[in-house]
Amino acid sequence: MTLPIGFLVSGRGSNLQAVIDAIARGEVDAEIRLVISNHAGVPALERAAKAGIETCTVAAQGFPSRREQQIEMARLLEQRGVELVVLGGFDRIVVPELIERFPQRMINIHPSLLPAFANTLHAQREALEYGAKVAGCTVHIVTTDVDAGPILVQACVPVLEDDTEEALAARILEQEHRILPQAIQLFAERRVRIEGRRAVIGPPNPS
Ligand code: GRF
Repeated sequence: MTLPIGFLVSGRGSNLQAVIDAIARGEVDAEIRLVISNHAGVPALERAAKAGIETCTVAAQGFPSRREQQIEMARLLEQRGVELVVLGGFDRIVVPELIERFPQRMINIHPSLLPAFANTLHAQREALEYGAKVAGCTVHIVTTDVDAGPILVQACVPVLEDDTEEALAARILEQEHRILPQAIQLFAERRVRIEGRRAVIGPPNPS
């Protein structure tokens, strides 16, 4: 059965685009029911609208707190029957009240090999400055511990001797665009089981 999913975004939306394209190619059995941004007018919203997907902006200004703002996001996602929430470049820490509404059904893409370079918006720069020889990206389940939920899929790339932050970020992004659709398809095929802090990937489960 086609998996109803929703996206929370904040900016460029290239990961959202990768999922839109993978669905169009028939590689991911999901339907994006709603794309919510916390900032108005960002490219991610344009990408969704262009693909005929419903969008809305839930900006901080309209709410007394981040908690209230994100509870509104949860309400909208639930109203559209979303079963998996994807954080695709969402630039805020998600409050427990939102995570609890989608237990083990919210995923995030982070541009590092977690647990390295967690909880930062500059993971690629930090990997370079640290002198890491490999870098990469991770799709993980969102829990209240930031960037520390069970890992679903990872991919690694080399760090080159003459790398710049931009070049490394672009190399990692290419892998993000590959593993995020892959992770969503694991949910569509009901293959994800959580055991302690591990996400165990089983065989496809048609039921
Ligand atoms: C990506 O690097 C992702 O790993 C991080 O935020 C960035 C979002 O990029 N969480 P985009 O908006 O999907 O292009």
